[in-house]
Amino acid sequence: MTAIDGDRLLARLDALAQISSGGPGVNRLAYGQQDVVARDLVAVWMTAAGLTVTLDEATNLIGRLPGRGGCSRLLVMGSHLDTVVNAGPLDGAYGVLAAIEVAAASHSLEHELVVVAFANEEGARGTAGLSGSRAIGRPSTVDLDALDDDGVSLAARVRGAGGAPDAIGHAAWVDGSVVAYVELHVEQGPILDRSGCQIGVVEAITGQRQFDIEVLGEANHAGTTPMEGRRDALVAAAELVLAVERLAADGGARVATTGRCVAEPGVRNVVPGRVHLAVDLRDTDAGRLETATGELLAAAQRIGSSRQVAISVERLHDVVATPCHGAIRDAVAASAEQLGLTWRSMVSGATHDGQSMSAIGPVGMVFVPSTGGVSHAPTETTPPDDLVNGANVVLATIVQLDRGALCDHTVSAGES
Ligand code: HGY
Ligand code: MN
Ligand code: MN
Repeated sequence: MTAIDGDRLLARLDALAQISSGGPGVNRLAYGQQDVVARDLVAVWMTAAGLTVTLDEATNLIGRLPGRGGCSRLLVMGSHLDTVVNAGPLDGAYGVLAAIEVAAASHSLEHELVVVAFANEEGARGTAGLSGSRAIGRPSTVDLDALDDDGVSLAARVRGAGGAPDAIGHAAWVDGSVVAYVELHVEQGPILDRSGCQIGVVEAITGQRQFDIEVLGEANHAGTTPMEGRRDALVAAAELVLAVERLAADGGARVATTGRCVAEPGVRNVVPGRVHLAVDLRDTDAGRLETATGELLAAAQRIGSSRQVAISVERLHDVVATPCHGAIRDAVAASAEQLGLTWRSMVSGATHDGQSMSAIGPVGMVFVPSTGGVSHAPTETTPPDDLVNGANVVLATIVQLDRGALCDHTVSAGES
């Protein structure tokens, strides 16, 4: 079996990381100018690998390599090119560029091979995220009217990036059309780095609940307004932020984060009248997420009445915990062993586009170590050998799945 071109993969990762709107790390927010520039460069690389490239209505970039026709269903790999603010160079980009290398090294597969760079995986500007992959796998969950932090609708963002929001329904793929979806990603956590394992075989991808919270108090003069009777929205929000942290205590949600806090009017000599909080809860257990949601609402109620402020909690689109398919997990583990790499089974604490794709076919993920467990930060890095190893594991996995059991029978999407 051939190997991928590791030098080219590493060189392209460096080149892609230069496409950024400035600031620390990599800044390529979904639907923005740099996101489009990166997408156009990746389209050139896809074409050079022999893929036929299209942009769908949701601005997903899709490269296709015909198979010999032994099976009509698709073998799919993918990830995303958009980033969070001040990101590292690997989250998403690694999976897309490695998939292109796998396609370039894959000859005469039975199945059509598809590489996708999904749009807006990260949820730029406060959007829910996974927009592009949900348009493909879970189209009913895409809310084009949702406004982002700048008050711009998702439809306008998609249109501005060359998409066709009015026809976004055409981006949906047929249920069962995917024989397997495999995504390669840096772990973004410390498990592989600490254990010294080279490959992570993902058994499940975490569930996620996201909330936008508004705290409405009363703006007033910081010098003349007595402490007694203030309706300070920021102090109330601070209590709520600590309550969010406690949701992950004592067997609660696995993790609970308030990632954004904006106080208005945001000047020193005015008592804050309004605060926006963005909250993110994660767990693979739906029951624990449900319990944590109830506790969050109860805390909002309690703090609102004790501080005489109005607290509204809006729940964004849930991401349901997703099992990875056993046949894909087995193929990944066998590939790692075939390449003489150590591997371990693990859960993903990050959400991924595979959670949308699981609606239309079996999914699997391959992780490589993140140095120090760091991600969503400029210092995100992974040793080059690990990056190349991961791509070769995906190549071997794709070759196995192309001939493997998944195509001998119709597999329902959620079967694992
Ligand atoms: O938030 C996540 O887990 C992913 O990086 N979007
Ligand atoms: Mn990310
Ligand atoms: Mn990612």
